Amino acid sequence: MIKPNTISIKATGSYVPDHCVSNDDLTQWLDTSHDWINKRTGIHNRRLSMGENTSELCIKAGQNVLKGTSVDPEDIGLIIVATMTPDSQSPSVASQVQAHLKAANAMSFDLNAACSGFVYGLAVAEKMLRHMTLPYALVIGGEVMSKVVDWSDRSTAVLFGDGAGGVLLEKADAKEQFISEDLHTNGDKGHALVSGEKSVSNPLVKGENNLGQLSMDGREIFNFVTKAIPVSIQTVLDSAGRQMEEVDFILLHQANARIIEIMAKKLNCPLDKFPTNIEHYGNTSAASLPILIDELAKEKTILNGNKQTIILSAFGGGLTWGTLLLELN
Ligand code: ACO
Repeated sequence: MIKPNTISIKATGSYVPDHCVSNDDLTQWLDTSHDWINKRTGIHNRRLSMGENTSELCIKAGQNVLKGTSVDPEDIGLIIVATMTPDSQSPSVASQVQAHLKAANAMSFDLNAACSGFVYGLAVAEKMLRHMTLPYALVIGGEVMSKVVDWSDRSTAVLFGDGAGGVLLEKADAKEQFISEDLHTNGDKGHALVSGEKSVSNPLVKGENNLGQLSMDGREIFNFVTKAIPVSIQTVLDSAGRQMEEVDFILLHQANARIIEIMAKKLNCPLDKFPTNIEHYGNTSAASLPILIDELAKEKTILNGNKQTIILSAFGGGLTWGTLLLELN
């Protein structure tokens, strides 16, 4: 049914650095092996920035989103960049994207919900756009995780990669795409993933003031998300009055192929409904879902003009997690 003021995905885009680092490459400085990494995570390669910062990846992803559309950047009212690895605390990455895209009328801000950032960002943008006068919002997830990874810690260094992706949301008289959502935080478990820690240091208080490297209790997060995400997915289905059989694809945050296999089993859903690209990029945090969405859109698996029900679900530092059910058309 056509309704006024509905929000839909108009375009997608992504950008990853050229430099590809294989599991074997990592063995040059880490006590690890392709077999361990592949068996435990499904990762074969990751892209690492050779100097491009998060804003540069996000600007290129944003340009790729707009490429092929006739959208005037001045019609974009909102830019959200989901990232836990901004170039600086100020200016935000989003404000740099705003400048480079010449989106003169857009308000912009960064959103940090670690790997859940893109799902959070979409949920926020969709609601804000409904109340804006301009018709477009750009939501980007972008990370240079290689800046914060401790490259001597094999338990995390093998997992992460760099990249950016995004979608352009449009407000129009059309069919509603955003059907239901389920977003959460459990700050009690925040210690399970810490990155960029900064202690208080001023003339009155002596303290280290360096941005801390990433540390993660992978096992704790693994156990937590394999319980929480199936519940979250069932919640969006129930809220939308849909059955799992009606879902075409479940796009999960690309953190670990084993997590995806466990989800498929727990949800009693065939694995081929869970497209993956973790093999090529590793865990790119907030960039993981928009890169996957863009790849699937480019190959016309989704956003191909056919009616499809898809679920987006992500989890990460915070701990945060969130799921959206979209009906594409
Ligand atoms: N190479 C070889 N051996 C390794 C490596 C490595 N790269 N890393 C760890 N090991 C060893 C460990 O030392 C340990 O050895 P031990 O048994 O002799 O002590 C053994 O392998 C098992 O280690 P575990 O940490 O128990 O391995 P596990 O099966 O839990 O896999 C992993 C680790 C891949 C991190 C997994 O726990 C995971 O994927 N967790 C979820 C991570 C996640 O999703 N994070 C959220 C998103 S991140 C974000 O928000 C930014």
